[in-house]
Amino acid sequence: MAESTPQNWRAADDYLARTLVGRDPALEAALAAQQEAGMPEIEVAPVAGKLLSLLVRISGAKRVLEIGTLGGYSTIWMARAVGVDGRVTTIEAEAGNAAVARASIDAAGVGERVDIRIGRAADVLPTLVGGFDLVFIDADKESNTVYLDWAAKLGHPGTVIVLDNIGRSGDIIDADSTDSMVVGTRDALRMLGEDPRFDATALQTVGMKGWDGFALATVI
Ligand code: DHB
Ligand code: MG
Repeated sequence: MAESTPQNWRAADDYLARTLVGRDPALEAALAAQQEAGMPEIEVAPVAGKLLSLLVRISGAKRVLEIGTLGGYSTIWMARAVGVDGRVTTIEAEAGNAAVARASIDAAGVGERVDIRIGRAADVLPTLVGGFDLVFIDADKESNTVYLDWAAKLGHPGTVIVLDNIGRSGDIIDADSTDSMVVGTRDALRMLGEDPRFDATALQTVGMKGWDGFALATVI
């Protein structure tokens, strides 16, 4: 049996991506543009991008909200999944990132479905009209509880919420951590467990992004 090592997690994730996701010129171009622009390579893995698109399709989501656009990689996955009559609103704090994402999303042929709002999510969220069917939270981890609160307010019973990066290489078990991203993630997980507006679980992942995970919730 192969050893459970980060190298083998990556190789297995690569195998799954090759087998189930395949080559995708528009998504690969989006990643190249993101790298060219000097953005961090912290987009979701290909198998996770496909999971987002499947969650959109399985839930029948037509209005999707994304918090944290980065280079538009996950945005393209979800914009494809909502179909021609669907819409994705995505919030990006950095105008430079948003410009790169805009070009990649347009080049992928889904530009008409995507509304990029530039600004701090905490400022943009109160300006949005509710009714979102799926919310993907993938921004500054310190604000996760604020974003969950807005996801509940801007959603409806049955809204799907995906919260990225809940594993943080196992650091989430450290109740004494002073890492603000760990504290923000632990606060979010506690909220998902205790707040009666949510029903939630979380899964750890290993793969090309290392050891991490995501929380999956619905609005009650
Ligand atoms: C970080 C943020 C992410 O959204 C991600 O997917 C991986 C890492 C980070 O800020 O460390
Ligand atoms: Mg992330």
